[in-house]
Amino acid sequence: MLILGIETSCDETSASVVEDGTHILSNIVVSQEALHGRFGGVVPEIACREHTKGIVSVIRNAIVKANINIDEIDAVSVANTPGLIGALLIGLTAAKTLSFALKIPLVTLNHLHAHIYACKFDHRSIDYPAISLVVSGGHTTLFLTKSETKHEQIGRTLDDAAGEAFDKVGKILGLGYPSGPVIDTISKNGNKKAVTFPRSYLEKGSLDFSFSGVKTAVLYYCSGQDAKSGKEKPKLNDREIADIAASFQEAVVDVLVDKTISAALQFSVNGIIFGGGVAANSRLRQRFGEAARQNNISLYYPPKELCIDNAAMIAGLAYHKYLEKNFSSLEIEAIP
Ligand code: KG4
Ligand code: ZN
Repeated sequence: MLILGIETSCDETSASVVEDGTHILSNIVVSQEALHGRFGGVVPEIACREHTKGIVSVIRNAIVKANINIDEIDAVSVANTPGLIGALLIGLTAAKTLSFALKIPLVTLNHLHAHIYACKFDHRSIDYPAISLVVSGGHTTLFLTKSETKHEQIGRTLDDAAGEAFDKVGKILGLGYPSGPVIDTISKNGNKKAVTFPRSYLEKGSLDFSFSGVKTAVLYYCSGQDAKSGKEKPKLNDREIADIAASFQEAVVDVLVDKTISAALQFSVNGIIFGGGVAANSRLRQRFGEAARQNNISLYYPPKELCIDNAAMIAGLAYHKYLEKNFSSLEIEAIP
């Protein structure tokens, strides 16, 4: 079965053709990172304009690269939630149009559930139920996952997402946008014990997250208590920047590892699934590896290139919703 996936929830315009849920025939991802970079974060108006400009050629390229005719597609799928409302609407409108014109079913789904699904491209069989951690620029969410399509939310960030904290700290340190991959790289040469930044665990037993405190602590450490985010660049040398980056990263990783492992123990599951851009972080993977060995838990990561937003994860998950005959009508709306 051939499913076309479309993804436009944030700043990547992507289309993909996936056969039977895991065989990727094409996955075209056009990133707008360079355009948003000079603003230090995603500008919704720019994202919408770029999706509108690119969506038709991205879909066409996905069909051409897959070496199929458009009328061979069995269903069209798209994430209709969560994300930037204008951006979601562009992908959803394209998917509805194709569904109507080609007379094929429309499958809509949750972008976060698709991030969880991405691990299936490397791990065909998963021992459900599992705990899923989605860590991206917009979300830090824990789910109890019972199957590819059944996810119950058990924790979420109360303020900044983990990736957002990486990007904001990167801005304070003058590392450009997005800063997650840069912090990951330079931390390898930094001393993670150089600065003790706060770890926010919230009330006892809570599976929610909060990362705004650690971000503000980095700002105050670099620029003093009166600092305003991004106003003045602190004068730091490369060693100091690497030490602060490594110490910040360790604080975030500590909380992500501790809360996810305690969720796994609380719900007596044998596996943890990761998804989202921050799941590419090497220190996070290393620390989870150690904790999982100690607790006898299996880890399921997506391939690194499928951690970021992409349409292959959409088309893959849609295959399972298709098998459940879980289709959407053309009246379905985007939900930010
Ligand atoms: O999943 P994603 O592409 O977009 C959203 O749905 O938000 O995630 C992007 C986020 C950015 O905040 C970026 O800085 C972060 O993922 N990121 C990383 C790494 N690679 C990407 N954060 C830490 N370490 C990385 N290696
Ligand atoms: Zn995402």
